[in-house]
Amino acid sequence: MASYDIGVLAGDGIGPEVTREALKALEAVAAVEGFTYKLVEYPYSGEYYLKTKELVSDQVIDEWRALDAVLLGAIGHPDVEPGLVERSVILGLRFGLDLYINLRPIKLYAEHLCPLKGKGPADIDFVVVRENTEGLYSQIGGHLKKGTPDEVSIINGVYTWKGCERASRYAFELAQKRAREGGEGRRVTLVDKANAVRPHDIWTRAFAQVARDFPDIEPDHAYVDACCMWMIKNPEWFDVIVTPNMFGDIITDLGAMLQGGMGIAASGNIHPGQTSMFEPIHGSAPKYAGKNVACPLGAIGAVSMMLEFLGEAGAAVRLEDSVADLLRSGKVPSADARSGISTSGMGDMVVERLGRG
Ligand code: IPM
Ligand code: MG
Repeated sequence: MASYDIGVLAGDGIGPEVTREALKALEAVAAVEGFTYKLVEYPYSGEYYLKTKELVSDQVIDEWRALDAVLLGAIGHPDVEPGLVERSVILGLRFGLDLYINLRPIKLYAEHLCPLKGKGPADIDFVVVRENTEGLYSQIGGHLKKGTPDEVSIINGVYTWKGCERASRYAFELAQKRAREGGEGRRVTLVDKANAVRPHDIWTRAFAQVARDFPDIEPDHAYVDACCMWMIKNPEWFDVIVTPNMFGDIITDLGAMLQGGMGIAASGNIHPGQTSMFEPIHGSAPKYAGKNVACPLGAIGAVSMMLEFLGEAGAAVRLEDSVADLLRSGKVPSADARSGISTSGMGDMVVERLGRG
């Protein structure tokens, strides 16, 4: 029987509550599908930092390398300097483990969750492949004459051929996989801003070179501003999008709304063949913390993505189907803190459906 070592960082705010439900779903699906796992819990969070002043060390990152996967709840505390713990934990994982793909599916399971008029599940089903270790997240930069009228602030956008190439290749391979599963003609859209930001043309060229290896997949392009417009106007156009780090961050919040909100959007931070990290895309939402109202479906979706990554495809589909079935049942009016369903209640409703299929 397969067994996995899974690191768990429940984190801040609503993180521990949604993680509890995610682990409940993991336990239930493991029992049905017949695999085992060991959880290794880590305390890193804003809350923990306030108590101990401890952030993630290189030693801990090395320890993570020995795991099969890491599940993360949410990081961010209102009393800690903005971004300090997020950079240590989330970017520590992404950069430290070279998780160069941030995979963010945008899939609408039930029409009533979509804010767009006249669009349904057949229209909203695409995946964003966000480059996850470069771009404006490079952390290369700083301040000069800080706090004076002459202050200068610089951040370097870093785009390497290797980074653009491997993200593009992952996107084309994913489109090919989706074509095999869905049978339709498939395309990959490169989303950049190479008209105004000319160094983005490294993306244009790397993407075009990779596209030559995939003659059955249509290469497509949109500038990021137009992409935002198309995502609202014609979301059915998109199949797989590949895009630099910062644009991926921005368009996936927009995408989350198309699929029902931040409460439902899940993501995988992936380095194929190595330890990878899975998380809901929402933050710690301090105002909902401890109230048992946060929607755990994003965290549960992250478990499904983790299972797919680990090679437990049957378990991944079973879990995703349970979430989809629940949403289609009409019992969940919205995938957010105002659904009228508690965090634990929503977890129970997913688990209850797991054994049915
Ligand atoms: C995300 C988040 C993070 C990011 C923050 C918390 C650092 O917004 O995962 O989308 O910018 O990538
Ligand atoms: Mg974000």
